[in-house]
Amino acid sequence: MGQTLTILGLESSCDDTAAAVVRQTDDLAAEILSSVVHGQTELHSAFGGVVPEIAARAHAEKLDVCVMQALEQAALTLDDIDAVAVTAGPGLIGGVMSGVMCAKGLSAATGKPLIGVNHLAGHALTPRLTDGVAFPYLMLLVSGGHCQYLITHGPEEFTRLGGTIDDAPGEAFDKTARLLGLPQPGGPSVEAEAKGGDPKRFRFPRPLLDRPDCDLSFSGLKTALMRMRDQVVGERGGLTRTDRTDLCAGFQQAVVDTLAEKTRRALRLYLEHTPSQPTIAVAGGVAANTAIRTALQGVCAEVGANFLAPPLALCTDNAAMIAYAGLERFKLGKTDGLDLMARPRWPLDQSAPAMLGSGKKGAKA
Ligand code: KG4
Ligand code: ZN
Repeated sequence: MGQTLTILGLESSCDDTAAAVVRQTDDLAAEILSSVVHGQTELHSAFGGVVPEIAARAHAEKLDVCVMQALEQAALTLDDIDAVAVTAGPGLIGGVMSGVMCAKGLSAATGKPLIGVNHLAGHALTPRLTDGVAFPYLMLLVSGGHCQYLITHGPEEFTRLGGTIDDAPGEAFDKTARLLGLPQPGGPSVEAEAKGGDPKRFRFPRPLLDRPDCDLSFSGLKTALMRMRDQVVGERGGLTRTDRTDLCAGFQQAVVDTLAEKTRRALRLYLEHTPSQPTIAVAGGVAANTAIRTALQGVCAEVGANFLAPPLALCTDNAAMIAYAGLERFKLGKTDGLDLMARPRWPLDQSAPAMLGSGKKGAKA
């Protein structure tokens, strides 16, 4: 029996307060002993987006509860933990600071090492936690705050092939829902509304397909939708159910087509770096969309790539991914001091040019 590492993880970079315990013995598969997530959707619902101050306050109030629940569910105490990992960025700064302060307190009180984790690394390393995927692999992050293609070479080694230059796709779904009077979060409501709709009735653009790279843009789709909605309302005095369904179907199809084509290009670029059988994994709430998943699966089938979508609870924000990314850092001998800083922006690929835009869910990196 070799080394067993047990890591407590904390996550509070957006609108989910989370704590989890992950354990790994030798190089065997890591195990999630507990994963607690307290969402804040109802706190922000009246405001049409995440309110950073409300989020930070709620994190500060809920983090210790989450930690206690995570330890209880894992049937462990702080004595059984080897290190405390925490999201140190990127994200909404108040929330990230709440988590970092809580983790520092736990580390100072117990003498256990502190590990600052990049939230995006948490997402990007999830396929290793869930499926033990070997490096390298291609990662597509598609959520309400992130959208990028990353080659994941190692726990701290990433190459960004491309990403959004403005809104994240989840943000575009959420804005679309708002424009059509559908409930938040917008992704599931737009997907449900799009069922049976005619995706060709309204002619949505396919942004940035005229550029050869795999950068994406979603803010134009929402503007296009607003214009089409206003035109129908202007001509007929309002929207019928069919109008709404067709608008949702057209919008969703534009996102699907754009992501499919850009993924094709990202895979091509990836194969130039790594000409072996590729694996592409997705993460983020938008990966829940059936039409998007099906299209990505189709693109992978074209080139014989493996397609991997972790279970939804581990695609969306959670602390198990932070504990696991912390575990990978800890195994490299990397820990942080009590001077660990919260970073609102923290790109995984430091050599890539900065991404533009900053949406409702905070800084994109
Ligand atoms: O990863 P996540 O839980 O949080 C972050 O944004 O970090 O993703 C939430 C986003 C929301 O914008 C939501 O509308 C979107 O994922 N989403 C979907 C679907 N389910 C959730 N978008 C499209 N289709 C869905 N079925
Ligand atoms: Zn996230």
